[in-house]
Amino acid sequence: MEIYTIEEKDYSNKKVFMRVDFNVPIKDGEITDDTRIKATIPTIEKLLSQNASLILASHLGRPKGKVVPEMSLKPVAKRLSELLNKEVKFVEDCVGEKVKKMASELKPGEILLLENLRFHKEEEEGDENFAKELASLADCYVNDAFATCHRKHASIVGIPKFIKDVAAGLLIKKEIEALSKLLTNPERPFLLILGGAKVLDKIGIIKNLLDKVDTIITGGVMGYTFIKAKNWEVGDSKVEEEAIPAAKEIIKEINKRHLEFHTPLDHIIADKISEDAHYFPTERGTVPPGWKGVDIGPQAIEEYVDCIKRAKTIFWNGPLGIFEIEPFAKGTIEIAKAIANSDAFSVVGGGDSIAAVNKAGVADKISHICTGGGASLEFLQKGSLPGIEILKK
Ligand code: 3PG
Repeated sequence: MEIYTIEEKDYSNKKVFMRVDFNVPIKDGEITDDTRIKATIPTIEKLLSQNASLILASHLGRPKGKVVPEMSLKPVAKRLSELLNKEVKFVEDCVGEKVKKMASELKPGEILLLENLRFHKEEEEGDENFAKELASLADCYVNDAFATCHRKHASIVGIPKFIKDVAAGLLIKKEIEALSKLLTNPERPFLLILGGAKVLDKIGIIKNLLDKVDTIITGGVMGYTFIKAKNWEVGDSKVEEEAIPAAKEIIKEINKRHLEFHTPLDHIIADKISEDAHYFPTERGTVPPGWKGVDIGPQAIEEYVDCIKRAKTIFWNGPLGIFEIEPFAKGTIEIAKAIANSDAFSVVGGGDSIAAVNKAGVADKISHICTGGGASLEFLQKGSLPGIEILKK
């Protein structure tokens, strides 16, 4: 796929609108995993080395067109400034007079981070006027937000309609190279590990991956949604009800193809989602009424580790339990360690999965850490994404 990249262009004294994915986990105002911020540093430094002035823009969370203070990008400006050892200016909106003034006054080598694009509903609607207003801030457009390239949003596919000089950053280039390895003759067995939430978003994509993989193991909200789709008891575990019809359909397709498919053999169940919960392992793959499934159990860990040992190619998206809470982290951490110990070509994708791999301390033993969750799944399905297509030569 031939796309424009920043390597073939000259940004000397240009004003660059750079779309990044700074959708990082934040707890009590503190960033708990900065992988996605760090991943954009090579592109930022390359552009700065050419004396460009950078206007950075991102979303954070799903504020649905409203200003949600907890989803402000202000803490990200501070973190980025620490990482670059350089001032990062911040403006409390992404459009409007103040933004225009600050962008126009930005000097070569300076950086301005705009406030969360999704505080305006026009971003997710892909509104052309909104895209035009964002585009008016700069001469060039660089997209390094691989994790958002599956969204047809204003800042992803809209801006390139108004700025001619467009290019992918170094992160997008690296992600395409690594994910393409999973698509071109992957060594078999190919193991897909699916956990986490956003089930409805991902489930259609999974259906289209069934021809590419040999084994699928599940956990987290994804796992409970599949268990419920099998008509098994899930107690008060979190499931995405709207995704159940699609999950049933997928189970049928899996059976037709005789693929190896696992939901957890047992679970850790708890009376509440909290550090001080009462919790213990179940003996079987169901969850009794009144209890919540919060992690895969010891038998499931053993079975999943065995699948990992047999695999030659592994793609993992989504944690297998509520790993942010210590007592419910074991399953996810053990899976991360097993992948790290395997000789398979392994890709771990998505914000939470990256945080899990970092928590397990094994990020450097994974073949490729992919910043995109939904984006990587959709890339595996289609071999491209709307945000990449628009950068084509
Ligand atoms: C992600 O976390 O996968 C990306 O930042 C995209 O976020 P979204 O699923 O809310 O569009």
